[in-house]
Amino acid sequence: MKFEKLFKEALEARKLSYSPYSKFAVGAVVETKDGKLFKGANVENSSYSLTMCAERNAIYNAMMNGYKKDDFVSLTLVADTDQPCSPCGSCRQVLSELFPSDAVIYLSNLKGEYQETNIEKLLPFAFSKKDLD
Ligand code: THU
Repeated sequence: MKFEKLFKEALEARKLSYSPYSKFAVGAVVETKDGKLFKGANVENSSYSLTMCAERNAIYNAMMNGYKKDDFVSLTLVADTDQPCSPCGSCRQVLSELFPSDAVIYLSNLKGEYQETNIEKLLPFAFSKKDLD
């Protein structure tokens, strides 16, 4: 799917953000092979560490609708940043387990600037299930 469509959907997701503490709204959308889009936005809590990021909410949303790692083709992230918004370390770790290593990840901002990457590039040498064997 074209970035423009994914970006529009990520902006819609961002509107669902619950971020009264940071006032930093983030939107994300996961695209599946069969063309479905699953939204996520950051959801904060007065006990700050309980906050859930947009990327993780989007991927968990897709999974709760029956989709798995191999079904995912892209993830798009948007926030009001100078440079295209970069995912936090926790989200990178989760994506390294639940998202295909070479699936497209679009980092973007409200100006519509974007950068294409993947989780292999964002988190090389990730700790994984294999390390537990
Ligand atoms: N946030 C995300 O949703 N994704 C990221 O990758 C970075 C941070 C959220 C968490 C918190 O609600 C707010 O942005 C400020 O850190």
